Amino acid sequence: MILLVNGPNLNLLGEREPEVYGHETLADVERVVAETCAAYGVEVKPFQSNWEGALLDFLQEHRQVARGVILNPGAFTHTSRALHDCLKTLPCPIIEVHISNVHAREPWRRRSVTAPATQGQIVGLGISGYYYAALHLCSMLAAAQAEAGLAAQTEAGLAARAEAASGSLMESGSLEESGSLMEAGSLEEAGEQPAEEPAESFPVDVHARGDYEPL
Ligand code: DQA
Repeated sequence: MILLVNGPNLNLLGEREPEVYGHETLADVERVVAETCAAYGVEVKPFQSNWEGALLDFLQEHRQVARGVILNPGAFTHTSRALHDCLKTLPCPIIEVHISNVHAREPWRRRSVTAPATQGQIVGLGISGYYYAALHLCSMLAAAQAEAGLAAQTEAGLAARAEAASGSLMESGSLEESGSLMEAGSLEEAGEQPAEEPAESFPVDVHARGDYEPL
């Protein structure tokens, strides 16, 4: 489960300073994040409050079940050491999101007391910042799951695949021969084309996803 936490005044998105925060509402934000995470089979629990203590209570209550947090602390970003300390108790990654570019506004908005307790910050991209945060957390979860799946493969399964692979190499030419070719120099020098790797032997880099669609 991913927590989507919004602090004070973010319930007024859409009507609050639209020239700064845009016209989308908090419901739009929650829908975008829910849809993005649903594509990965990840559930989202949204929460908004104008009360610092309520935000702390929500985060504390869910700290063991949350696999990630998308957090816009609103103005508590610049003031709340209590929120900073609370974030430190969470074992999962936290992404801090700001709709506006806080660095291009009043100087007091440039400092975040909460960001040092997070994995990273997305600033100034409008509500797309929430989307990118969701994408990041979900792809990290998917990668962790894929790694866990690989680790769960039995030794026997791995050995069987290795045996099958070496069997097919032996059929197409002796291993010793190709070993000595590699030592002597390039395959081209030896007048041979490099053998095509079987597709399934390429490692899949699950961190390098190239299929992100902007909003
Ligand atoms: C904000 C930036 C904060 O400075 C401000 O207090 C907010 C919204 C943002 O999303 O840009 O309430 O977090």
